[in-house]
Amino acid sequence: MKWTAAKIKALKGERKIAILTAYDALTGALVDSAGLPVVLVGDSLANTVLGYETTLPVTMAEMLHHTAAVARGVKEALVIADMPFMSYQPSIAMGLENAGRFIKEAHADAVKIEGGVNRVELISALVENGIPVLGHIGLTPQSVKSMGYRVQGKTSEQARKLMDDAMAVEQAGAFALVLECVPPELGEAISKSLSIPTIGIGAGAGCDGQVLVFTDLLGISDRSVPKFVKKFAHLNPIITEALATYKAEVESGTFPSGEQTY
Ligand code: KIV
Repeated sequence: MKWTAAKIKALKGERKIAILTAYDALTGALVDSAGLPVVLVGDSLANTVLGYETTLPVTMAEMLHHTAAVARGVKEALVIADMPFMSYQPSIAMGLENAGRFIKEAHADAVKIEGGVNRVELISALVENGIPVLGHIGLTPQSVKSMGYRVQGKTSEQARKLMDDAMAVEQAGAFALVLECVPPELGEAISKSLSIPTIGIGAGAGCDGQVLVFTDLLGISDRSVPKFVKKFAHLNPIITEALATYKAEVESGTFPSGEQTY
């Protein structure tokens, strides 16, 4: 069964939603065959795969290229493309046009954009034009230059502002909302106040679902990970050991052996 944004929205209160990022056909297919209902082509592509320091430099061309690859690898999961920095901030028209490119050219099923009250007009325009939207508030990495990588919503004033943002994103028509790095009490309060699912990342167990980054969950990279990450596997040393063994066997002449020879 192919997942749609409407089916994901209907999971609220029925079951928790597990989302993982993917960046190409291989990782998309792995996430899809594990039965996760949503694959997010995060702009974390920038710092997890493409070697940038932050998500800011990743371009529309790069995101389209990787989203199209993920879509080719996925059969059932909903494929969400993360709109990169400055592909939607300058104007509603630009946001609509670029979101449309993710649907038409890269075969995404939905897009994700960062922001709350300040994105209401864009979210409404996208939804009215048939493009499902996943919102994203709290720590929004595209605003790293102004907010840093800090937990958001710690004061009651900030918490109220985030609650207003969440309500605004829901009213604008988003089918779900990512809450990144907020205190668990706020994550739970927002989740209870909304009728759309909340997807937490560092927002506690009270959210309706969780999202993690593919390479973090599998322990593939050796970069340090935030506190909210649980490494469900530690593949980095396994991969490094396999590669070192290959090098050693080539150098010693034990690979290829008769078994690998025609
Ligand atoms: O870019 C990304 O991977 C994300 C999620 C982890 C929420 O935005």
